[in-house]
Amino acid sequence: MAGNIKSFVLRSGRMSRAQEKSYEAGERFLIPYSEEVVDFSRYFGNDRPITVEIGFGMGKATAEIAAANPDRNYLCIEVFKAGIGKLLWEIEQRCLSNIRIIEHDAAEVIEKMAAPESFAAVHLFFPDPWPKKRHHKRRLVQKPFAELLASRLCEGSYIYMVSDWENYAEEALAVFSAVPGLYNPYSGGFAPGISWRPRTKFEQKGLAKNHPIKEIYLVKKAVT
Ligand SMILES: C[S@@+](CC[C@H](N)C(=O)[O-])C[C@H]1O[C@@H](n2cnc3c(N)ncnc32)[C@H](O)[C@@H]1O
Repeated sequence: MAGNIKSFVLRSGRMSRAQEKSYEAGERFLIPYSEEVVDFSRYFGNDRPITVEIGFGMGKATAEIAAANPDRNYLCIEVFKAGIGKLLWEIEQRCLSNIRIIEHDAAEVIEKMAAPESFAAVHLFFPDPWPKKRHHKRRLVQKPFAELLASRLCEGSYIYMVSDWENYAEEALAVFSAVPGLYNPYSGGFAPGISWRPRTKFEQKGLAKNHPIKEIYLVKKAVT
């Protein structure tokens, strides 16, 4: 089961007053966790394609992407309450209507709440790298999770992961490449930097430490 990995430690980061107010006022953008399959289009109020973002942190890049793509919906999953408050604040400031948030473990959400072929894309930007070898088992991208993601994507949709942690990126590239039905248009290697992706907070931290930024982009094709 993909939901067995404890890929996060709940950060207790304090919310600013503005984040707290947005959190209290933003209930209509939150989808409660449920053990049942959910029709996400009901929460968005339309049938536009849904991109899932896993672990959006403070959500600034998420809000920028959503603002630039009003014809798509963004289902954003995070466990960090202050980050959720911040994304709700961004939604309010930018008057965004195409973001919904679930405050829960992404592996459980996707496994329990999403029907097969629900999503048009998965964004996974700078997942926790768990750098110590004894912690690698806590990395989110492992075979069961990669297979779960692939099963929830519709044909022609993509998984896009970025990491500044080279050995995690290499491991993730190998894991995703081994999933039947995922196709790497970059000859099995890393993708070139994708121009529309805004720089994230954790990317900035990685760059400040001279970490190389590794991009992984695979497309779901029909299994024949
Ligand atoms: C290293 S931060 C990256 C944040 C953001 N994507 C960025 O690039 O700035 C990883 C984020 O993933 C979240 N996270 C880790 N495991 C998760 C899980 N299983 N479900 C939901 N969120 C998770 C953490 O709370 C954290 O905010």
